[in-house]
Amino acid sequence: MRTQVAIIGAGPSGLLLSHLLAADGIESVVLETRSEEYVAGRIRAGILEQSTVDLLREVGLGDRLDREGDPHRGIYLQWPGERHHLDFVDLAGRSVFVYGQTEVQKDLVAARTAAGQEIHYEISETALHDTASSGSGTDRPSVTFTDRAGVAQRLEADVVVGCDGSFGPSRQTVPQAVRRTWEKTYPYSWLGILADVAPSTDELIYARHPDGFAMHSMRSATVSRLYLQVPNDTRIDDWSDDRIWDALATRLGHGQDGWHLTPGPVTDKSVLPMRSFVQQPMRHGRLFLAGDAAHIVPPTGAKGLNLAVADVALLAPALVALLQKDHPGLADAYSDAALRRVWRCTHFSWWMTTMLHTSGDPFDEQLQLAQLRWVTSSEAGATGLAENYAGLPIGY
Ligand code: FAD
Ligand code: PHB
Repeated sequence: MRTQVAIIGAGPSGLLLSHLLAADGIESVVLETRSEEYVAGRIRAGILEQSTVDLLREVGLGDRLDREGDPHRGIYLQWPGERHHLDFVDLAGRSVFVYGQTEVQKDLVAARTAAGQEIHYEISETALHDTASSGSGTDRPSVTFTDRAGVAQRLEADVVVGCDGSFGPSRQTVPQAVRRTWEKTYPYSWLGILADVAPSTDELIYARHPDGFAMHSMRSATVSRLYLQVPNDTRIDDWSDDRIWDALATRLGHGQDGWHLTPGPVTDKSVLPMRSFVQQPMRHGRLFLAGDAAHIVPPTGAKGLNLAVADVALLAPALVALLQKDHPGLADAYSDAALRRVWRCTHFSWWMTTMLHTSGDPFDEQLQLAQLRWVTSSEAGATGLAENYAGLPIGY
């Protein structure tokens, strides 16, 4: 098989990249280990930044988002006895949307299917070859894999893009002498639930509590998404639905100032580890990395999906210029340009995480409270959080 761009991974970064490239007449083939249903059903991110929404609208993916997405002006930050609203529109002139990654994924699959995009699901043994090559003549990169029917395949391409998430093989094919990585594992995880119950809040609540962090998010007027900080070795079986709702009620302040948390049937339950990770450069020869393949952030602050979209928004025009006009300028600049935003969001996610999660250290606790008081009482403090949360412009 032969194509212009071989895309490994059919998550949001891979499918959006194929969509943006196709709009400019560049052909791609997408390779994915999982089934279409599995990828579409994974419960993950829930918040889209303004610039993500603007981009999805611009490229014809905004119809259902505009009908079913829920624009939010800001968030609540709280700790025992206090709840403060930060209004991002007033503070930073931008807002966010509640629209689940599952929905973004469905819209992408629908658009790519309608356009006849070649996507190979349920492949195995993905391996990248000759990605450091010049890409000219017979010196081309390729990807080998075994297709769903068990047949060995070879896909040749002008460039290969690793959109294969945190466990994919792409980033490891950058030679060790070239790549540099940074990693931080946090000493706690999130226990997340999805529940068939109307949200008990109009906007997301991020709560610091001596028992640990808790968050109230949502997916729609009838579906709530909530999280609890739990120790890293937590077994999901130790947390019955009642235990989860009790802990959420305590940490989110049920009964405080007349506010009530309404429990409901839990439809999904999982434990998520928290990690910060960055690998650079995000380009080596004819291999480019985008999204979680190059960087992972802890979910506090909702940056993961938005960063993946921002990478692809930079990468698509760079590949168009490279492959259509033989102009390498944007492709050469891609890694540095993307990493500028990646490190900003890495810092913001770390900062939100460490401000809100309990570590057991009494000194940290006082610093966290001092920071929370400042962020909720000073316009400068609040504006910094709002600007980062609502998201920096794509070209930041
Ligand atoms: P992914 O969505 O991971 O897609 C990568 C794709 O590559 C996958 O479909 C994978 O199956 C495929 N792949 C892997 N290996 C291969 C291979 N060898 N060959 C072919 N294909 C391969 N972000 C938030 O902002 N808020 C959240 O609440 C949040 N919750 C999350 C919960 C979980 C459990 C996880 C894992 C992530 C969460 N994130 C969250 C992060 C967010 O979902 C990711 O940042 C986003 O999915 C990145 O998109 P991506 O396309 O780069 O990677
Ligand atoms: C979510 O709705 O899943 C969500 C929202 C905000 C976050 C993290 C996760 O910071």
